[in-house]
Amino acid sequence: MDEFTWVPLCQGAALQEAGVAVDFDVIYKGQTVRAFAIRFEGEVHAYVNRCAHIPMEMDARENHFFDPTRQWLMCATHGALYEPSTGRCASGPCRGGLIKIAIHEDERQVFWQTAYNLIPVA
Ligand code: FES
Repeated sequence: MDEFTWVPLCQGAALQEAGVAVDFDVIYKGQTVRAFAIRFEGEVHAYVNRCAHIPMEMDARENHFFDPTRQWLMCATHGALYEPSTGRCASGPCRGGLIKIAIHEDERQVFWQTAYNLIPVA
C-alpha cells in the first residue's frame, strides 16, 4: 500500500461541532488501536485514542471526548485536557500530546491519511 493513502472514514455530517466522536481502528506501530475523529471550530481532527499520561484509551463513555465546556478533549482517567485542534496537552498530568492523524474533508466525506507507522486494519 502507498505510504500516504487517504482512507474513507465517515460522512462529514456524522461529526457535529464538539459532539460525539466517530471511532475507527488503525494499526499504529504494529499494534491495532482505536482512533477517533471529532469536529471543532468547523474542522475535523483525528487522534489515536491513547492518553499521553498513561497509554490508555481516554473515553469512559464510548466516543465522548469533550469536557463539559466542549472546549477541550478530556481523558476520563485522570482529567488531562488536550487542545482539540492540535492534540497538545493543555492541563493535567499529560506530557506532550496526542498522536495526530491527518484528515481531509471534501463536500461530503471525511478521509484519514496513512503514514509509515499508521495503516488501516486489513
Ligand atoms: S491516563 Fe489520561 S490523564 Fe492519566
